[in-house]
Amino acid sequence: MDIIWHSKSKHFHLFNEKISYIMGVTPLGDLGGIYFGRRIHDKDDMSYAYNRFTLPNVVVDPDTESYSMELNLQEYPCYGTTDFGTCAYETELSNGSKISSFVYKDHRIYEGKTSIKGLPATYADDDEAMTLEVYLEDEVAKLTLTMSYTIFENYPVVARHAAFTNNGATRVKLARALSACLDLPDQDYEWIQFSGAWARERMPVVRKISEGALSIESRRGISSANQNPFVIIKRPQTDEERGEAIGMSLVYSGNFIAKAECDTFGRTRLLMGINPDMFAWPLEKGATFETPEALIAHTCEGLGDLSRTFHDLYNNNLIRGKWKNTARPILNNNWEATFMDFDEDKILKIAKKAADAGVELFVLDDGWFGKRNDDTAGLGDWTENPAKLPQGIAGLARKINALGMKFGFWIEPEMVNPDSDLYRRHPDWALATPGRKSSLGRHQLVLDFSREEVVDCIYGMLKKVLEGAPVSYIKWDMNRSLTEVFSNAYPADEQGTVYHRYVLGVYSLYERLTGDFPDILFESCSSGGNRYDAGMLYYAPQTWCSDNTDAIDRIRIQYGTSFGYPISSIGAHVSASPNQQTGRSTPISTRANVAYFGTFGYELDLNKLSDEEFAEVKEQIKFMKENRELLQFGSFYRLRSPFENDQASWMVVSKDRKKAIFALYCMRSNVNQLPGYLRLSGLDPDRRYTFAGQMFYGDELMNLGATLKLLNKKALATGQDFVSYIEVIDAVD
Ligand code: DGJ
Repeated sequence: MDIIWHSKSKHFHLFNEKISYIMGVTPLGDLGGIYFGRRIHDKDDMSYAYNRFTLPNVVVDPDTESYSMELNLQEYPCYGTTDFGTCAYETELSNGSKISSFVYKDHRIYEGKTSIKGLPATYADDDEAMTLEVYLEDEVAKLTLTMSYTIFENYPVVARHAAFTNNGATRVKLARALSACLDLPDQDYEWIQFSGAWARERMPVVRKISEGALSIESRRGISSANQNPFVIIKRPQTDEERGEAIGMSLVYSGNFIAKAECDTFGRTRLLMGINPDMFAWPLEKGATFETPEALIAHTCEGLGDLSRTFHDLYNNNLIRGKWKNTARPILNNNWEATFMDFDEDKILKIAKKAADAGVELFVLDDGWFGKRNDDTAGLGDWTENPAKLPQGIAGLARKINALGMKFGFWIEPEMVNPDSDLYRRHPDWALATPGRKSSLGRHQLVLDFSREEVVDCIYGMLKKVLEGAPVSYIKWDMNRSLTEVFSNAYPADEQGTVYHRYVLGVYSLYERLTGDFPDILFESCSSGGNRYDAGMLYYAPQTWCSDNTDAIDRIRIQYGTSFGYPISSIGAHVSASPNQQTGRSTPISTRANVAYFGTFGYELDLNKLSDEEFAEVKEQIKFMKENRELLQFGSFYRLRSPFENDQASWMVVSKDRKKAIFALYCMRSNVNQLPGYLRLSGLDPDRRYTFAGQMFYGDELMNLGATLKLLNKKALATGQDFVSYIEVIDAVD
């Protein structure tokens, strides 16, 4: 890994073993793109990459008379001069002008990586990454633009963000400040986005890039289940194992946009950042605005490799604290067992059975506080309901501890019910627009987390509960989109800051709570997977993946999620059958075989199982305890897509490739078919492995494949829907 500055030709080359990122100062003095892709040799001068000629109908810079932004790749394009694509940022001066022109002044190259104030970001020690900061100035606007680029030693990834500082005497409005723009010289790409809705999150959608733009965005105040702030562009022939692809992820949990725009000269522009809709940031004299971080990864080895890059990067350089790379406790959550209808006795009865089964952590979900007996009341009143918990959270936690389990509980700190003491005391603390109705979501309003005193108050209440009790886990929920966003705390010309300030408020509460209680495992949640993003993972190393706990639907949801997020982050539980969301009945073995590829736990009352099922649960817990490091932190390979087949399959392989766990799921039975072969992946081609009771070479399993005939003696032979098969594969030499 290194970053080289070629002072004569004024270009930078960031590289590691796998990738090169080359860009430089253009004839205009701004930053232009040259190359991003597989590592190439370093050269003193690559300014041939700039097109210094003009074409018919092209406007050019008056000083160079031949250079047009339109014909060149841009690093961070602006609006209004010779580039006509979507811009990465937009400033507005007090006279209404929106043109800007940032010119290179200086740069700094250093080892390691610095953090971004108030925002989550990847981190790195000095030997793990190098950072380049390029300083540019707009002399008319009196603004400095700092463009940051970090290259990692071990990952084919460049992290980018930008910062604007106002050095002038007058306020400048930032109307748009995206995190990154990547201009690429051709358009031979397909784009993959991860779209969905509640209970069907992160379904891959493939679209062809061609002249014009395609984009996804969130305007809900959260990253959302509808679109995820992670996209891939890939060559049309790229598959799981082969081919070029670029992934872009935004380390941010609020409104975002991701866009691929193809011009009529056949080039592609990829952009990502805070959604400029409803964003306007007044930059006062001396103030700085920093964008969130965008992570850009490249591979020539297929989508599987791209995913494993993000998995390893997040496990090693995004997730922090005690739970970084630590196997997650097996939990039992009471939500689908009781909903809010519980008292301490009922909970202890469920917990006792969980302890007998070998569960390590008991989680009390919604309903323990205020007057919360259904979802119409109580949010905001973070004190225990004595009718349900006579000795409070602390008392219950101690009783759970006495059963040999850790204890955790649910919160939804960003919300308030109109029927709550908090709302009655502070009706102006909810986001609401004067003179307008406030839309309700699940009978609740959103607290104005852009205001420090609101965050302080919630922090105070939660801290009090946490301080007095042996708590090991928190599930942080968030159950509605933001609407009628307006804050009483800010003047008219600062209302465009509220969405972003809200996100900063959420992060600040996370920072305080994780700082005060560093041993607590946080799981983020938002009606399931409504806020599953890299920003959240910085604070909460796992995310409740979906409220849909149906094993068959979960195969698709977890498969889609795995493109951008590590298995260690995927909250996955075994729930009751028939499933409460879909009504589908599935074997308890299949429910576990899916949930193993996640954080694993139970979302039911184990007392309600038959003796045989309970015995099976004990075995499942034993299996998970023996294998969870591999399942959660091994290298994950998608083998067969549930979106294209009646069977789905994936596997994890240990980093030393001596052990693997293979899983196959039958989603729909198929008559009169040959059993066929399924190619495994990630094994050592030269080792021999035991699989399905026989010995195979790694290359045999990965090229010829495993014939499913061998597995047929297990459940698959019955040809039933929803059966599944899992096996630990060991190397024998
Ligand atoms: C939505 C979550 O996704 C569920 O798991 C559960 O915690 C409920 N909220 C509780 O209200």
